[in-house]
Amino acid sequence: MRRTVIAGNWKMNMTPSATKAFIEELAPMVKGMDKCDIVLCVPFVDIATAVEAAKGTNIRIGAENVHFAKSGAYTGEISAEMLCEIGTEYVVIGHSERRQYFGETDETVNLRTKAALEAGLKVILCLGEVKEERLAGITDEVVTMQTKLDLAGISAEQLKNVIIAYEPVWAIGTGLTATPEQADETCGVIRAAIAGLYGEAAAEAITIQYGGSMNDGNAAELLAKVNVDGGLIGGASLKTDKFTAIVKAANA
Ligand code: 13P
Repeated sequence: MRRTVIAGNWKMNMTPSATKAFIEELAPMVKGMDKCDIVLCVPFVDIATAVEAAKGTNIRIGAENVHFAKSGAYTGEISAEMLCEIGTEYVVIGHSERRQYFGETDETVNLRTKAALEAGLKVILCLGEVKEERLAGITDEVVTMQTKLDLAGISAEQLKNVIIAYEPVWAIGTGLTATPEQADETCGVIRAAIAGLYGEAAAEAITIQYGGSMNDGNAAELLAKVNVDGGLIGGASLKTDKFTAIVKAANA
């Protein structure tokens, strides 16, 4: 059976001191909730503090991006080796905000994914359609194409360290959530694309999360769907009580 993964994506929120306080508060709240993996993806400058605060707990720590080169003249970027050395286990790649505001393409997402996997990081690979694509009825084509391009050249063995986060862009930070049926259906389309690339067993094994205004009120019905194996949570991951409620829903 595939693992359910509840991951927070803090985006550009929280200082190191706030990170320490948050994890110290969260850890006892989610203690023993082991039916899912619990991950917090945090800003680069918070990672070392987060790793230290999460020691001995069931909370794992991730980054929100990584560069594809091993090192070099890339001012402002962070390499996979740097992340690994400070105890980072996961990394979010291809978030729609990176694609929208920072020029990420399927090509750079693919390069970053390869670099992260080679360094031993687990990747949370984000993809999803924009509103116009859903309205035009081409969501299935869009997510299938993204799946193929973003995973190009990644081996079946490496795929074991990839989680896909299906995040319809129109649902991110908008309070609009995909219906459980829409989330299930599109996660199913992505799973079918994985089956086409890697076979049925790999498709059955891969964790596919839903992300986009998931919160304590809607998590249970989204997570109940067969193709939804967890959540990537933005706003609601910044509050310990809301995030705990989602983890609890995944442990029901
Ligand atoms: P919200 O949960 O704030 O909509 O953000 C979702 C997201 O982008 C997670 O990566």
